Amino acid sequence: MAKAFAPGKCILFGEHAVVFGHPAVAVAIDQGVTASVTESSDWTLEGKRFEPSRHPHIEHIIHNVFQYEGPPLKIDIESNLFSAAGMGSSAALSNALAAALHLHINPDSKLDQVKLAKMAHSAEAFAQKGRASPTDSSTSALGGCVVVSGDRVPGTIHVFDTSLTTPEGNREWAVNTISIPSSMNDAFLVIGFSGDTSPTGKMVAKVANLISNNPEMISEMESISKITTAGLTALSVGNLDGLGLAMDACHERLRNLEVSTPKLDRMVEAARPHSLGSKLTGAGGGGCMVSLTNDPSRVAEAIEISGGTPLITRLGTEGVRAL
Ligand code: PMV
Repeated sequence: MAKAFAPGKCILFGEHAVVFGHPAVAVAIDQGVTASVTESSDWTLEGKRFEPSRHPHIEHIIHNVFQYEGPPLKIDIESNLFSAAGMGSSAALSNALAAALHLHINPDSKLDQVKLAKMAHSAEAFAQKGRASPTDSSTSALGGCVVVSGDRVPGTIHVFDTSLTTPEGNREWAVNTISIPSSMNDAFLVIGFSGDTSPTGKMVAKVANLISNNPEMISEMESISKITTAGLTALSVGNLDGLGLAMDACHERLRNLEVSTPKLDRMVEAARPHSLGSKLTGAGGGGCMVSLTNDPSRVAEAIEISGGTPLITRLGTEGVRAL
């Protein structure tokens, strides 16, 4: 049997602004997806007959990327991520499965994280009608802290460039990383799930509409971009207070863009007294918020009391790996 794990992700800065070419910063989290593959007499997924049309990520990885023509496979998937909540569960699934399949076919070889990031991005694009940024797939593959942008970002390490033909035209991104200083080891993220799924496409369209009706709102994107740069600087030097302040400021800008919800705001407010910074994370309209804190159990309690489901993680864990 070949088995691999790939982490989920949490966006610290730049959601929505990244759609307008500004940088987004995401970290890999402790939770993720484990995939295992074993040769079998039938194609199965979780003990049931595998139906390719219902699982486009899996189908794309096996048949389009690997062009696998070997014996049928028994595929098993375990996840401790909230799904459809902005935690990158489909990208983690694609990475874990591609890694497990690679190890099944080449048992003695090492995993190539950049190759896996590209494979998982192509699976996301295949499953999402050609619209997918490389944020989730590259954070899950590379681990640590990933900065995705239309341009190279000063102060980061450039890892690879990638492009995609989308229904709206060709898009290009630079995928960069920064190393997180060891002084960050004492800090935790507490992610709070609102219980509502996060409709990314709908929220991106809502923001596009808001800006086309109120062109002056484009300044919010520029503000988010400046906050992202400040947050990135704070993160790279281990300045926890600065990082938290930037997260608080980012939440206000996202509220101005009308992507927060009363429930997300309530969870953010409840977490703040025990946090260095709190904000919604991802597309908004549901999904999750995140707090940076030295006191994760207090924050988890506050989130629970305000109606959310908490999950405690460290920042920037290792990327896709063999088990
Ligand atoms: O769907 P999520 O939570 O991973 O967040 C999407 C981030 C957006 O900037 C809103 C959309 C995008 O494609 O980057």
